[in-house]
Amino acid sequence: MLDGYMREINYLRVSVTDRCNLRCIYCMPPDGIEMARHEDILSLEEIEQVIRAAADIGVRKIRFTGGEPLVRKGLVELVERTAAIPTIDDIALTTNGVFLPQYGEALKEAGLNRVNISLDTLREDRFQKITRLGQLADVWKGINTALRLGLNPIKINNVIMLGINDDEVLDFVRLTTEQPLHVRFIELMPIGSNNTWTEGRYISNDQVRNTIIKFFGELQEEKKVAGNGPARYYRLPGAPGTIGFISAISSHFCNQCNRLRLTSMGTLRSCLYSEQEVDLKVPLRQGAGRKELRQLIARAVKLKPEKHKMNEGWQDKERVMFQIGG
Ligand code: 5AD
Ligand code: SF4
Repeated sequence: MLDGYMREINYLRVSVTDRCNLRCIYCMPPDGIEMARHEDILSLEEIEQVIRAAADIGVRKIRFTGGEPLVRKGLVELVERTAAIPTIDDIALTTNGVFLPQYGEALKEAGLNRVNISLDTLREDRFQKITRLGQLADVWKGINTALRLGLNPIKINNVIMLGINDDEVLDFVRLTTEQPLHVRFIELMPIGSNNTWTEGRYISNDQVRNTIIKFFGELQEEKKVAGNGPARYYRLPGAPGTIGFISAISSHFCNQCNRLRLTSMGTLRSCLYSEQEVDLKVPLRQGAGRKELRQLIARAVKLKPEKHKMNEGWQDKERVMFQIGG
């Protein structure tokens, strides 16, 4: 379906939970957050109904996110039910990777095509500082599981932060020469639970790119990495993996945006940075049928703004990344 700016909306990101087994410094406060009550978040059946209605109006790609989607019970089944919808042709997952050894195989059998794994550092002590609760080795087990299962492409999400991990850019680039991993440098966005913290830590992707070029020379653009997103990819000569840049702050890619987001609380957001939402939970619980759901989803599509205003310092106080879905 086309939105008000002639963009084809065919991609739904589904946040299945606001909970997470980690507490990344840019995402969550140290003690975690007051979690939504179980009855306040959509049930798996309700999520499936939304996905089916979205598929009716042209959504073909689904990504499950969180929080950490693998802490939600029943995700494998949800993937399986999603894969059973004939017009859905791509199912992806954004995860911190920790539970991939446990669920990876079942997810693949259920129909999962690919994963994005968050990894901001390659150093154990730092990993513990950044995630507060995590062990780097667990993420590596997850990445290796994804490699072994042949989930493809495997993308590594790396949020670069000044004074925290900006000295590891070249190490992450080297990783792409060793493994078929697609490392994406993501600009830190003012959308975590601690907005003031993020301000001084922001580095533009131009700076990251310059660091890479200085060492490795000019980068060759690569068009073949499968995905739906705004990343631009480059490959070092002969490398099995690629380097990508997601520059949400420094360059507007909104004109190519094809997505809608379903929050774990059951609202539809047409833009990560827009406060406007269409509630689906109440209608769902009042017995809305597929047609009514389709109409509500179409309303969210029509509400999609032309571009985000993140660069103007806008911050949504109501809901942050782990609730909206990363
Ligand atoms: N800025 C940039 N990226 C973020 N993510 C979470 N919070 C932020 C933020 N404030 C990323 C995580 C993960 C994905 C879900 O979103 O690194 O890869
Ligand atoms: Fe969890 Fe992802 Fe937030 Fe880290 S960024 S705390 S892994 S939801």
